[in-house]
Amino acid sequence: MIIAPSLLAANFLRLEQECNMLNESEADWFHLDVMDGSFVPNISFGFPIIKQVRKTTEKICDVHLMIVEPEKYAEQFKNAGADILTVHIEACRHLHRNIQQIKALGMQAGVAVNPHTPVNLLKDILADIDLVCLMSVNPGFGGQSFIPYSIEKIKQLRKMIDDAGLKVKIEVDGGVTLQNAGQIAEAGAHVLVAGNTIFSSKDPKVTIRTLKLI
Ligand code: DX5
Ligand code: ZN
Repeated sequence: MIIAPSLLAANFLRLEQECNMLNESEADWFHLDVMDGSFVPNISFGFPIIKQVRKTTEKICDVHLMIVEPEKYAEQFKNAGADILTVHIEACRHLHRNIQQIKALGMQAGVAVNPHTPVNLLKDILADIDLVCLMSVNPGFGGQSFIPYSIEKIKQLRKMIDDAGLKVKIEVDGGVTLQNAGQIAEAGAHVLVAGNTIFSSKDPKVTIRTLKLI
């Protein structure tokens, strides 16, 4: 299981220490949530923070864009240090073009789907992408509860990927806890994003290790 701690739940006054803690931990990726106050009802952070985080780590920087018109900024996210760039299906008028742009810039391409979006809408784009970020909460905030129906969606998506003989990774984002991680893994997820579960725990490194072993 790939573990991707979400920096949204980190202490930004101690960002360097938080990054170093993740570097010393068994975390695989850094998950960076970018929100624009338009696609989602919240604003998080942008290029300056991603650039600083990039300097601290050799781990994969997995940038989750919750923004409208992501094509306007793809190159800047590449320059800021993104390895994986994920755009929302609901935010892209020309998803195929956006995916090609991301790949042409040398990044891996991800597509995120909101809780209301059926996974079968991904059918014709699946062969072109590296990752599906399946939102198990409504995007915009950390610390929300996992939507139980997401388990069904993970299973459906995993079947679609396996039936097509593809290697697309399923990333589950939102409300992941030590309690539900087993069920999420069993349903077929490859990547677990966790914000509050990791950063609010007494010993984040132990929590990461526990998630990793699930
Ligand atoms: C939500 C973000 C998530 C969020 C997860 O919009 O995409 O990555 O940080 O936070 P938790 O794990 O606390 O639900
Ligand atoms: Zn996210």
